[in-house]
Amino acid sequence: MKRKYLNKISKLAVVLAVISIASCREEGGLAPEYMPDMYRSPSIETYVDYGELRGKQGNDSIINSMSARQPVEGSIPRGFQPYGYENTPEGYEMAGQNLKNPIAYTDAVLAGGKELYGMFCVHCHGKTGQGDGSLVERDKFPPIPTKFSATLELSEGKMFHTITYGKGLMGSHASQLRQDERWKLVHYINVEFMGKVPEVDTSATAPVEVAEEFAAEVVEAAVEEIGH
Ligand code: HEC
Repeated sequence: MKRKYLNKISKLAVVLAVISIASCREEGGLAPEYMPDMYRSPSIETYVDYGELRGKQGNDSIINSMSARQPVEGSIPRGFQPYGYENTPEGYEMAGQNLKNPIAYTDAVLAGGKELYGMFCVHCHGKTGQGDGSLVERDKFPPIPTKFSATLELSEGKMFHTITYGKGLMGSHASQLRQDERWKLVHYINVEFMGKVPEVDTSATAPVEVAEEFAAEVVEAAVEEIGH
């Protein structure tokens, strides 16, 4: 009996302690930090505000100054090829005419494309590519106008362009899929739904020329801006 009482009292004490701590306010009306070590590292980390370092809080002269500089506008990661076609109807047509799948077609590529399709596309385009995805079937998304078939005139470049920028109600997938992954999907759709089995073409290259031109323009503009 006594024990039960003690139990209740200790629970009540814990609840009261939590309430009293939670009702504390630090200076400036902020809630207290329970584990400041987790928020404020004593070491300098990339892209961290100096004014947030442990022991430096409230130092007006360093607040809002970054531990690393922001990259110059137009910087691109090493090895990355910018996509040189604009998100316009003209860009779409040009990509359709000029772009060729730079990825050689193999069983592994097809398997990779299938996997990606299952993760990113099937809920709209469906297992058969006829727009019978679960979102459409459950009326969560309007019917898909594009039905992949042997009679659909759709070049590889247009497909790549659409996956990159999106089209109509389809959103851009550029942030989720690398360029090589997008090209794998193009292979997969062609083979699986459109009856176009590509020949293995090992001479195929990335859309280098257009991309290089674009990259050169970006570098030129950046050089002009910063003056060297
Ligand atoms: C949220 C639904 C949705 C998802 C997810 C989606 N799509 Fe689409 N997709 C659409 C719609 C809608 C269209 C029709 C666009 C139009 O022509 O208005 C379309 C059109 C297309 C086309 C035809 C483009 C053209 O140029 O006419 C291709 C190719 C395509 N999608 C590929 C994909 C691939 C690959 C994925 C996965 C990475 C994907 N889609 C994911 C909704 C979706």
